[in-house]
Amino acid sequence: MNNISTTIARKFVPSFVGTAAGASDMTQDEVIHLADNINFLTLKSTTLDSRAGNAEPRYKKLPHGTIQSMGLPNIGLGRTLDCIQRITRPGLTIIASIAGKSAFENQELMWAFQCSRVNFVEINYSCPNRVGEKVIAFDLDQMDEGLGYLTNLGDKPVGIKLPYYGNIEIQKRLVELLVKHNISFITCINGIPGLDIDIETGKTVIRPNKGKGAISGKYIQPLALLEVRNYYDILKGTGISIIGVGGIDSGADAFKFLLAGADAVQVGSALQEQGVECINRIKTEFADILKRKNYKNVQEAKGKMLTWDN
Ligand code: DHB
Repeated sequence: MNNISTTIARKFVPSFVGTAAGASDMTQDEVIHLADNINFLTLKSTTLDSRAGNAEPRYKKLPHGTIQSMGLPNIGLGRTLDCIQRITRPGLTIIASIAGKSAFENQELMWAFQCSRVNFVEINYSCPNRVGEKVIAFDLDQMDEGLGYLTNLGDKPVGIKLPYYGNIEIQKRLVELLVKHNISFITCINGIPGLDIDIETGKTVIRPNKGKGAISGKYIQPLALLEVRNYYDILKGTGISIIGVGGIDSGADAFKFLLAGADAVQVGSALQEQGVECINRIKTEFADILKRKNYKNVQEAKGKMLTWDN
């Protein structure tokens, strides 16, 4: 396969295509299985203590994606650290994802991962499933305060997982915060709140939070592309990298995100539905497209989307 390596925050990353934090609670075995098969992965959003997550049914496949309200099931910080310590495969890039309940919990998580073997830390400020809690990314003042506790705790680049804003003025204000707090990358977008109903039973398709969950997959791809393109324009000259997420299930999908200006992509729903094998398929398809279009590497095609009139 042609070289599809990239850089995030000026660090070498072996593949443009990696995995997203995703819906799975990621047991230690699952992390090890991912690490054995691919070279760029993101861990499930981690809290200090392990969590069982929300009641079932909490995840449902839909015609063009998924709806879920997992409720942050995860094995907790201790077991996550344990598990990544056992991963010795060279050349593997790992992003840790943190989703503490408070600024102080996030600080402990950040500190722990800064001292671990992960390469990057992604702060999940956009989980839509914390019932009764605010999505921090929609409150820029709270985000400003929270980030004050989280940067300068180590050398590993720090990023933020962002929601769909659909508003370039908010995105511009957000970017001012990113620069102020020395944030190195953004990951966009997280699932978008939504609802689905089974007409036979009349019931919502998932149980938690009165059936309201996060929509992922193809439904959200054009929205994710818009956010990536807006950030590509706004972030010029800042050195902040962009990871695109949203319904990527083929090399063509990944290539769209590259044209829009992404430095890398993460695959969530497809991984959940198809397992890790889909990542190598997407990578091969992506490499073939680069070759067919005569791009020698990822960098050459980045942001090269054309518009009709200029
Ligand atoms: C969960 C869902 C998300 O979209 C997210 O960003 C983090 C966690 C969840 O419910 O587990």
